[in-house]
Amino acid sequence: MKSYNIALIPGDGTGPEVLTEGVKVLTAVAKKCDLKLNFERYDFGGERYLKTGEILPPSAIGELKKFDALYLGAIGHPDVKPGILELGILLKIRFALDQYINLRPVKLYPNVETPLKDKGPSAIDFVVVRENTGGIYTGMGGAAMIGTQNEVATQVMCYSRPVVDRCLRFAYAYTRKRNRNKKLTLVHKCNVLTYCGDLWVRAHKEIGDAEFPDITQDYNHVDACTMWMVKSPEFYDVIVTENLFGDIITDLGAMIQGGMGIAAGGNINPEGVSMFEPIGGSAPKYTGQNVINPLAAIAAGGMMLETLGEDRAAAMLETALHAALGSGKIKSMSAGRMGMGTREVGDFVVSQL
Ligand code: IPM
Ligand code: MN
Repeated sequence: MKSYNIALIPGDGTGPEVLTEGVKVLTAVAKKCDLKLNFERYDFGGERYLKTGEILPPSAIGELKKFDALYLGAIGHPDVKPGILELGILLKIRFALDQYINLRPVKLYPNVETPLKDKGPSAIDFVVVRENTGGIYTGMGGAAMIGTQNEVATQVMCYSRPVVDRCLRFAYAYTRKRNRNKKLTLVHKCNVLTYCGDLWVRAHKEIGDAEFPDITQDYNHVDACTMWMVKSPEFYDVIVTENLFGDIITDLGAMIQGGMGIAAGGNINPEGVSMFEPIGGSAPKYTGQNVINPLAAIAAGGMMLETLGEDRAAAMLETALHAALGSGKIKSMSAGRMGMGTREVGDFVVSQL
């Protein structure tokens, strides 16, 4: 029997509740597919930090590298200053494990409400490949004369050709494998960001021409992209973009697919250890009430199975998710309005396997 070791990082707020449902569904899928999933829990997050003053113990990264995959709930605590946990846990893991792809499907499931008028599941079905280790997120820059009237600050958008190339190669190969419209849209702002934009534009063309002649090349400025995502989302198959633009457009993507309750993502190192997460936050005000939507965490679990190469198990989970939503019994994607509780949604998806 094939066996996988998975680190669980439930994190803060409602993270533990949604992850519990994800583990419930994954365990049920594994049983049907003759897989063994061994889960080990880590208590990283705001509570631990407030109690011990430690964000991540020195051994954490070394330990996490030994797993087959990581499964994260949510990071973010109302009593901790913004940035500390995000940088110290989430970004730290992404960088240290070189999870250079952030894969974010924007997919409208049946019976899920979208704010886009007259758009259904066939129109809203694309994937954003967000570069996940470079750009402004590298943290290069500085500030001087802080507190004076001439205070200055810089934060540098930094990209090397290898970092751009590996992201584009992943995106092209993913577009080919997805086999939908075979179109890869590069999103940037090359009319203003003439250095970084030009680097991405040239690399996109060179790699596409040389290695992926079967994939149609397309380009949008990021501001126009937000417009098209709302007006004509059916235009997109796969989008590839740099880190910050990807961060921004995937929140818009989450909204058009029905909200944070259903939006999943994977931080992927194709040659290493990847981490899967619902892309919403820790939603502290809903903690412990059995009202938060676990479907994003469940869908992230499906992405984990797919990335591990367990295509049959991933397809089974996806089919169950479809069936659960298709039934119309889950009334809304919003916390407290689902018509059933967090645990009941997990049970319901399991019943559809
Ligand atoms: C995300 C989040 C993170 C990011 C934050 C919490 C650091 O917004 O995963 O999209 O900006 O990448
Ligand atoms: Mn974000």
